[in-house]
Amino acid sequence: MAHYKLPLLKDFKKKGGEKSTALILLKNHSGMQVALTNYGARIVSIVVPDKQGHLTDVVLGFNTIDAYLNADESYHGATIGRFANRIRGGRFQLHGKAYTITPNNGPNALHGGHNGFHSKIWDRRLQQPNGVTFYCTSADGEEGFPGKLTVSVDYFLTDHNELKISFRAKSDHDTIINLTNHAYFNLNGEGSGEVLDHTIHIAASAFLPIDSNQIPTGALAPVADTPFDFRKAKVLDKDFHQEDLQIHHGGGGYDHTFVLDQTVRDGQSVAASAYAEASGIKLEVLTTEPGIQFYTGNALSGKDEGKSGRTYAKQHAFCFETQHFPDSPNQKAFPSTELRAGEAYQSQTTYRFNVIKK
Ligand code: BGC
Repeated sequence: MAHYKLPLLKDFKKKGGEKSTALILLKNHSGMQVALTNYGARIVSIVVPDKQGHLTDVVLGFNTIDAYLNADESYHGATIGRFANRIRGGRFQLHGKAYTITPNNGPNALHGGHNGFHSKIWDRRLQQPNGVTFYCTSADGEEGFPGKLTVSVDYFLTDHNELKISFRAKSDHDTIINLTNHAYFNLNGEGSGEVLDHTIHIAASAFLPIDSNQIPTGALAPVADTPFDFRKAKVLDKDFHQEDLQIHHGGGGYDHTFVLDQTVRDGQSVAASAYAEASGIKLEVLTTEPGIQFYTGNALSGKDEGKSGRTYAKQHAFCFETQHFPDSPNQKAFPSTELRAGEAYQSQTTYRFNVIKK
């Protein structure tokens, strides 16, 4: 089941205004390779050995920059900002002043609006020994958000098969922020079909129920006795087809924020994991964020043809999007997503890979 052919540097070179896109390759001493592009500060490929030692690309994506520019799904592997996930009606107030982000997902604003961070060409700086920093400035008022924001995203590949991601930002006015990464994973290799055979664990005793427009109702619902209980690892398929209003609201699958238990919000403990028996590949996620959007690719349309020439359809991947809660600016009980002028925003997430030989 080898799914491994890294995209070529030349296929990512393109001018866009004054900037140009590029592919950046990181390699460690344990056989892991990561490809990134400054278009959307995004992950293009993560190649890890499977249980037979075959190198497998576990992230959905494309072989050329043109394919990214024309993709039906525009968030593949990207840095999402200024505000990951949904804001009800695209509206919020900050210190009594109303702001509007043009809705781009039904009535709501999703992932920072039409031209979010996923569609920016970022500047870049290689970091020794094995990393890259992408950075950009988002103008005051961009997509409707207040404050001129300077943002950076570091990707660092360790010799322990970890990809460490650090987001940093500063604004010159009070604003809101919620950054994440939108990698779509398939631990049997991108293009290998559905992920419903993956075993999932999420250290969350509660999740955020959503309404029919996928906005959190405001409740923190206990996961006990619901399909949302992943505290004990279970195969995704187990409760997937249950008649459940929340699964229905999620678009026929999971598309919900899990409220991580306090004990794992230190960035050092495992907050969530996924394991595919066929490949033996295990992914663990560590984060400083209070939530994880667990999304089972319910809206993947089957229109995009990926790196290995196969199409990406519904449930062919899952995302673990570490983040603050959706619609937080309108939900005072949620942890605040406000960033005060001059204050430092910081958020860290690690994707760690292992092989389990059974
Ligand atoms: C959201 C989904 C949305 C997808 C778009 C995810 O982060 O939770 O609802 O369809 O992004 O790619």
